[in-house]
Amino acid sequence: MQFKKALTVSAVLGASALAANSSIASSCSLGSQATATAQADLDKISGCSTIVGNLTITGDLGSAALASVQEIDGSLTIYNATSLSSFSADSVKKITGDLNLKQLTILTSASFGSLQEVDSINLITLPAIATFSTDLQNANNIIVSDTALESVEGFSTLKKVSVFNINNNKYLTSFQSSLQSVSDSLQFSSNGDNTTLAFDNLVWANNITLRDVNSVSFGSLQTVNASLGFINNTLPTLNLTQLNKVGQSLSIVSNDELSKAAFNNLTAIGGGFIIANNTQLKDIDGFSKVQTVGGAVDVTGNFSTLDLSSLKSVRGGANFDSTGNFSCNALKKLQSNGAIQGDSFVCKNGITSTSVQLSSTSSGSSKSSATSSASSSGDSSNAQASVSASSNSSSSSSKKSKGAAPELVPATSFMGVIAAVAVALL
Ligand SMILES: *[C@@H]1O[C@H](CO)[C@@H](O)[C@H](O)[C@H]1NC(C)=O
Ligand SMILES: *[C@@H]1O[C@H](CO)[C@@H](O)[C@H](O)[C@H]1NC(C)=O
Ligand SMILES: *[C@@H]1O[C@H](CO)[C@@H](O)[C@H](O)[C@H]1NC(C)=O
Ligand SMILES: *[C@@H]1O[C@H](CO)[C@@H](O)[C@H](O)[C@H]1NC(C)=O
Ligand SMILES: *[C@@H]1O[C@H](CO)[C@@H](O)[C@H](O)[C@H]1NC(C)=O
Ligand SMILES: *[C@@H]1O[C@H](CO)[C@@H](O)[C@H](O)[C@H]1NC(C)=O
Ligand SMILES: *[C@@H]1O[C@H](CO)[C@@H](O)[C@H](O)[C@H]1NC(C)=O
Ligand SMILES: *[C@@H]1O[C@H](CO)[C@@H](O)[C@H](O)[C@H]1NC(C)=O
Ligand SMILES: *[C@@H]1O[C@H](CO)[C@@H](O)[C@H](O)[C@H]1NC(C)=O
Ligand SMILES: *[C@@H]1O[C@H](CO)[C@@H](O)[C@H](O)[C@H]1NC(C)=O
Ligand SMILES: *[C@@H]1O[C@H](CO)[C@@H](O)[C@H](O)[C@H]1NC(C)=O
Ligand SMILES: *[C@@H]1O[C@H](CO)[C@@H](O)[C@H](O)[C@H]1NC(C)=O
Repeated sequence: MQFKKALTVSAVLGASALAANSSIASSCSLGSQATATAQADLDKISGCSTIVGNLTITGDLGSAALASVQEIDGSLTIYNATSLSSFSADSVKKITGDLNLKQLTILTSASFGSLQEVDSINLITLPAIATFSTDLQNANNIIVSDTALESVEGFSTLKKVSVFNINNNKYLTSFQSSLQSVSDSLQFSSNGDNTTLAFDNLVWANNITLRDVNSVSFGSLQTVNASLGFINNTLPTLNLTQLNKVGQSLSIVSNDELSKAAFNNLTAIGGGFIIANNTQLKDIDGFSKVQTVGGAVDVTGNFSTLDLSSLKSVRGGANFDSTGNFSCNALKKLQSNGAIQGDSFVCKNGITSTSVQLSSTSSGSSKSSATSSASSSGDSSNAQASVSASSNSSSSSSKKSKGAAPELVPATSFMGVIAAVAVALL
């Protein structure tokens, strides 16, 4: 099957806007592009078992059907047919190109009951759709955006896809998938408030980003080749106990209800490792096997424990910032043992602050002074000042470290790494 890149919404709309209006002749070969604007147009080709060419259906149709066609050697696009309430093509088994349904404001039912194979499916802006049925076995790219679908179970039989992107479907509540691999990206965002997902057969994915998801299980996921992000979800727990490796960054950010993150088999993170702003995540004890981090580590939030006891190598800097009662001692030990090799180490909590400039070589310091801007060094000295002021007024805890002395952090290059990772994710 042809391997295609995902079409963005604008690319899809752009392609359709260029559709030529050639009337449909009574032939099974449509040429590169033909447009049907009435059922009578479709009737002319309904006797064909295979139609060759790209077919667009648009205009003022109330309902439409493509009767006995079994294969479309091309793409089928139905768009901007604002009176179309139902469409069926129940004999079509295979579409070699794309199936696009776009801007169909009153379409409630689209039936492709025999469709097993298609390159891409794009369902975009279908505010009334209640049912979309297929018998799908193979597809490369699935994009479902801005629809009224409550379920995408039609895709639940797929084992492999390249892109699976489900966004802005406000009524979607749950999806149980049998996907085993995702060769490009798996993305869910801005769907129903309570979306529950299960990807328990998924073993390998290139990258995964979930937003606005209420619960998810990845019971078999072993490898994420590129990045893995959980951002702004209402997940109470994250249980990825089979996950062994993330090739690029791992981000767990702004999940307000997350209280448990279990990544107990994870040993390697190829890029940045960010755990930030998860207000309920107090005990970060699910990363105790992580040995290597290829980028920077940034852990911020109101946590009181953080177990990184297997950590052997962090190529970037490290920033640990807790508003809770957190001891930096274990991390300081890791840093002094050489496990954190990047150019800065900062550990702060409500009581003490430790900052160490690691790259004190002449090349390192000249580089950082050359790039350091007035505003960023000003910010970091203010932050240090307020932290050390509160440490002076707090109890004479034995945790108070030498780092609380005004020792400035060369924040520029380190923050650059963090910012780059964060931007790449958002
Ligand atoms: C297509 O062309 C025919 C004749 O040229 C015209 O009657 C029809 O309105 C056109 N349809 C669209 C959608 O432009
Ligand atoms: C259908 O359109 C695509 C471009 O969108 C083109 O590459 C392809 O050749 C067309 N198919 C046929 C059968 O003409
Ligand atoms: C959609 O169809 C209406 C007529 O039904 C037409 O006026 C409008 O230009 C079309 N929009 C696009 C984007 O093709
Ligand atoms: C979400 O689902 C839970 C049960 O799973 C239910 O108690 C809650 O009310 C739902 N919230 C919304 C906004 O639908
Ligand atoms: C997925 O990973 C590839 C690198 O393999 C990257 O180029 C792409 O931008 C990523 N996509 C998303 C949505 O993260
Ligand atoms: C996590 O999932 C494993 C199986 O994949 C299960 O045995 C374990 O109980 C789960 N833990 C939590 C906290 O849900
Ligand atoms: C895995 O990700 C890397 C980038 O980190 C990319 O170059 C490579 O092609 C990906 N592998 C597969 C099988 O997609
Ligand atoms: C989280 O979602 C809210 C609203 O849904 C949005 O305002 C905020 O920017 C999002 N935060 C992130 C980190 O994406
Ligand atoms: C951890 O992953 C390895 C494969 O990398 C697997 O053999 C092992 O069963 C996993 N352990 C747990 C506790 O999931
Ligand atoms: C965490 O929240 C703070 C304050 O809301 C914000 O400045 C910071 O950028 C957030 N961190 C991340 C990684 O989103
Ligand atoms: C941090 O969590 C503790 C409870 O563990 C709570 O008392 C405190 O108010 C929280 N602080 C912030 C800044 O949320
Ligand atoms: C902070 O936690 C330690 C144990 O880790 C405990 O002994 C101490 O009392 C706690 N301090 C506060 C202010 O909660």
